[in-house]
Amino acid sequence: DSFDLVITNGICVTAGDIAPYDIAIKDEKIVLLAPSGSLADANATRIIDAERGYVTPGGVDCHVHLQEPAMFGKGTSSDTYETGTRSAIAGGCTTIVGFAPQQKTEPSLLAALAATHLRARGNSYCDYGLHLLVGNPSPQALSELAALRDTEGVTSLKIYMTYAALQLRDDQILSVLLAARGHRILTMIHAENGDVLTWLTSQLEAASLFAPKYHATSRPPILEAEATNRAIALSSLIANTPILLVHVSDPGATLRIRAAQTAGQPIFAETCPQYLFLTRDDMDGPGFEGAKCVCSPPPRDKESQEAIWTGLRNGTFTILSSDHCPFDYDDGESGKKTCITEDFPVGRFKEIPNGIPGIETRLPMVFSSSSEGRLSLTKFVEVTSTNPAKLYGLYPKKGSLIAGVSDADVVIWYPEGKDRKGLDMTITNGMLHHATDYTPFEGRKVGNWPRWTVLRGRVVWDRDGGGVVGEKGYGEFVKRGITSYMLEFS
Ligand code: URP
Ligand code: ZN
Ligand code: ZN
Ligand code: ZN
Repeated sequence: DSFDLVITNGICVTAGDIAPYDIAIKDEKIVLLAPSGSLADANATRIIDAERGYVTPGGVDCHVHLQEPAMFGKGTSSDTYETGTRSAIAGGCTTIVGFAPQQKTEPSLLAALAATHLRARGNSYCDYGLHLLVGNPSPQALSELAALRDTEGVTSLKIYMTYAALQLRDDQILSVLLAARGHRILTMIHAENGDVLTWLTSQLEAASLFAPKYHATSRPPILEAEATNRAIALSSLIANTPILLVHVSDPGATLRIRAAQTAGQPIFAETCPQYLFLTRDDMDGPGFEGAKCVCSPPPRDKESQEAIWTGLRNGTFTILSSDHCPFDYDDGESGKKTCITEDFPVGRFKEIPNGIPGIETRLPMVFSSSSEGRLSLTKFVEVTSTNPAKLYGLYPKKGSLIAGVSDADVVIWYPEGKDRKGLDMTITNGMLHHATDYTPFEGRKVGNWPRWTVLRGRVVWDRDGGGVVGEKGYGEFVKRGITSYMLEFS
């Protein structure tokens, strides 16, 4: 028998264990795991010698905004499905779940989904699923959940407690949770108190405080903790329907989530690299540069970073996603982070579109922290690949290395302890593959980078042999099933 691809001499890491073994791939699937080195001379179209580098399942990033119209302020995304997914594979991510945004003026979720399919289809370098971003929970929209799940393979929604274009009232949130519960669809909640942050923003403006750093002042931690607590309360009112708190940044919010989990409530939570690596001081950059780190919730302080790391280690956070939501700093035609005018010479924080790029840097930055003892490697795989796949109904096709079952989505890292062929591991925007004109992580050192990325048996990223060698359009839409965590839930 011949294989399409063999990965020999790697040290494989899954959410369950670390062990040296070889991997054989055929027809887009992992078909055989064998003792280390035993497949070095196998009959295969291609053999990759991992040289005892770590081998992990492809990254799964289920919080990615691409090619979305203005919703989080004035700008539109600076990455398309093409440029965003190209950036994904160069950073070891083989599957994303993007958002199909439904505007407030649009009654139908199916129409919003169809519009997003037109943007993504034929343009993706990696596999992708879609969630609905619900701006208008109309009776029609909620009546479409069955079709979304059973026909369209969409098993999750995101709703907002902030942003003028998206904020739902508590009674609307209850209606969404009730409908979602009936179809075992997972509801992601952006928990910030929109009324309070709007009021605080007016107060700051009245005091002529406009610089980017006041973005953080307008969104104090308690505002996230309050909304998180309210979301948990609303879930409990709908007979404990499962929810996922997205992009959690605050230790107070984390404690409330932890307490609910301890009490047995099905509360899941996500955090992102920006809450591990940035602080509010990064929004106080020279000139207007601080705008490069403006996202919501805002990066907090050093102690908060520690609390978020602890929450990852102790399982409070189920997943770690990028929340890639890029806007050009200064390049963009249709909206950008710089909003300096004659009237506002230091810009105006309330006009800065919220969100930062990070789809490509997510895995290298967090993997590197593993070698610094922040997170075990198995935990790294769990929160960046396996758990997202389980939570969003992609498992075990995605998120693992199960022979005969999992897609052949694999990342091969550089061997530890080598000089890594003299590669400079300093992040610069020039080395990234997105279309955005900056990275908030410019100049940061990372200890490793994906050397090869394999998607369904094909090498799509070869760092030393051509870079992006995959093709746009190879990435397929993946219909998702019900979240693994809800299968036993009634
Ligand atoms: O600032 C952020 N996070 N922008 C992206 C939109 C969202 O709410 O996730
Ligand atoms: Zn959000
Ligand atoms: Zn987001
Ligand atoms: Zn640009």
